[in-house]
Amino acid sequence: MAASMDNLFSREIVRNDEVCLKINQCEIGDVGCVVWDAAIVLAKYLETKDFDCGKKWKGARVVELGAGTGILGIMCASLGADVIITDLPEFLPLMQCNIKENIKKISGRISAEELTWGKGKMDVSFDFILVADCIYYDESLEPLVETIRSLCSQSSTVLCCHEQRTTGNKPELERKFFELMEKYFTKFKVPLESQDVQFRSDDIHIHQFHLIKNTST
Ligand SMILES: C[S@@+](CC[C@H](N)C(=O)[O-])C[C@H]1O[C@@H](n2cnc3c(N)ncnc32)[C@H](O)[C@@H]1O
Repeated sequence: MAASMDNLFSREIVRNDEVCLKINQCEIGDVGCVVWDAAIVLAKYLETKDFDCGKKWKGARVVELGAGTGILGIMCASLGADVIITDLPEFLPLMQCNIKENIKKISGRISAEELTWGKGKMDVSFDFILVADCIYYDESLEPLVETIRSLCSQSSTVLCCHEQRTTGNKPELERKFFELMEKYFTKFKVPLESQDVQFRSDDIHIHQFHLIKNTST
């Protein structure tokens, strides 16, 4: 269902230096029209000393997949990165609205583009690929992994954050996603103690992935 831009309500995320980003969400629409906790946890991790972001983000080339409201990519661009936030076409108005809302706080460059997993091609690789809470339906897993791979070079880092869910087929989906990723990528689980002190949770996990050397793409 397309995100309806008629009734918006907002959520704020405050950077460590007190700069406040305002993110609009839709009352009516599909899952991407609200901010998910995994996006907040990963967004706050980008600021941690563990991730050494102060130096890393300035000028870094970043793409976010399944961005929804765009909160994660907007946070990253506000830290100085050059970011493309992407999602299904129906989320372009919401992503563009949130870029506009926060443009004065963004020091890097940012744009919103349509990217449907397994379909669109960008023909370019990025320093960072950000993915928050995108492991949730079976048919999308292979196209999602294929798209992640297509955006990576040997020096890319994939940062993936997901909320662990125990109901229905969700554990199986998670297992399948990691199995697919580990065919091509090394996996590192970010320990809880390395994450933001306030915005972390036992059931929200951050992983870093790097392409296994000499994997053909
Ligand atoms: C649970 S939401 C997470 C949104 C956002 N990353 C967050 O954490 O707040 C999943 C997102 O994946 C997007 N998505 C689902 N299937 C997709 C596909 N085939 N191609 C591109 N995006 C897709 C949805 O539109 C939605 O924005």
